[in-house]
Amino acid sequence: MSTLDINFVRSQFPAFSEPSLQGQAFFENAGGSYTCQPVIDRLSRYYTQRKVQPYAPYDASRLAGEEMDEARARMAAILGVDTDELSFGPSTTQNTYVLAQAFRQWMQPGEAIIVTNQDHEANSGPWRRLAEDGIEIREWQIDPETGSLNPADLENLLDEKVRLVCFPHCSNVIGEINPVTEITAIAHAAGAFVCVDGVSYAPHGFPNVGDLGPDIYLFSAYKTYGPHQGCMVIRRALGELLPNQGHFFNGDDLYRRFTPAGPDHAQVAACAGMADYVDMLSDHHNGPQGDPTARGAFVHELMRVREIALLQPVLDAVKDRNAVRLIGTSDAARRAPTVALALNRSTAAVAADLVEHGIMAEGGDFYAVRPLQAMGVDLKQGVLRVSFTHYTSQQEIDQLLNALDAVL
Ligand SMILES: Cc1ncc(COP(=O)(O)O)c(C=O)c1O
Repeated sequence: MSTLDINFVRSQFPAFSEPSLQGQAFFENAGGSYTCQPVIDRLSRYYTQRKVQPYAPYDASRLAGEEMDEARARMAAILGVDTDELSFGPSTTQNTYVLAQAFRQWMQPGEAIIVTNQDHEANSGPWRRLAEDGIEIREWQIDPETGSLNPADLENLLDEKVRLVCFPHCSNVIGEINPVTEITAIAHAAGAFVCVDGVSYAPHGFPNVGDLGPDIYLFSAYKTYGPHQGCMVIRRALGELLPNQGHFFNGDDLYRRFTPAGPDHAQVAACAGMADYVDMLSDHHNGPQGDPTARGAFVHELMRVREIALLQPVLDAVKDRNAVRLIGTSDAARRAPTVALALNRSTAAVAADLVEHGIMAEGGDFYAVRPLQAMGVDLKQGVLRVSFTHYTSQQEIDQLLNALDAVL
């Protein structure tokens, strides 16, 4: 296994050579990542050469439509699903909202949905609102100390009334990676479908969703080095069962059934740049040829190994500090490099202090109000979140650790 060539990686992100960003280390990646060069190139090519209504026979339009199809086909292949099982919507929040409307129509009063109090509100609130239509909402609760979800607790909540189990691949403040395959198997054995919010996980390597097993898997491309799109995998069996939410004459196309908004053509097309980036990384590191899923898995592993190595010292530096509460596990191998710290003062003010040290980070609730509340965090003070990805350099980590030493 080769190690990630960080210079090559960073050369693919114009932000790292942008003069106005020099000297500033970016640690709000869980909010939204920098954009890779292939995505920027495709967006700019689309807007200059193809910005016409796609799928007509003239050249500019044909190329526009082909590029949108290419994006879906190549990303679906990396994710290990069929091309029409992937759809693009404006955002993950919008995508779950539409899905919840479909479940609202499909479910009967008295049937149940399980949600967690570990999720970002996007995979929680839209489902909870179905209570207004007589759907029973059951909450799978985290351990208030560790923030962990225990699969054994899920088993106690399941029965024949449950139609859907929603949970995150990892939380955007707790960071611990949930065992999706194990949880999905438990839910499926009870006859329930599964919806996984992968927004906080996918930036750290696209998963093979086909292998993982959930019926729905969501992530946001603006956090995975791409444009501002919500990516949504809906496996065929569920997608064909749920009522169509798009125009009635589009309902035969699986990828159109849950995206009623007209697509943002340029951004959908530019999503192919994320596949370009995976391919570039795989080729540069002598990864497998051919099979996109294998290439995705290879790149995922490259990213993961690097992130774990960079993360452990960060966790070690904060876990025993006075007046700092590390949210979630201090074992880097079990979590994403999204590190939230509860302090005994305003985290927004601490984030402002970090600016003096060239650190771009933020304090607040990050729309993870429920998990922070459940863990007893004072929401007025919020958490300071420092999040990074595979492209973060050792120097930036050192800069962060020095800055935390100075401000905490
Ligand atoms: C874990 C998680 N889920 C969902 C979302 C919502 O994604 P979007 O901004 O695409 O609606 C976010 C955004 O921060 C998130 O962190």
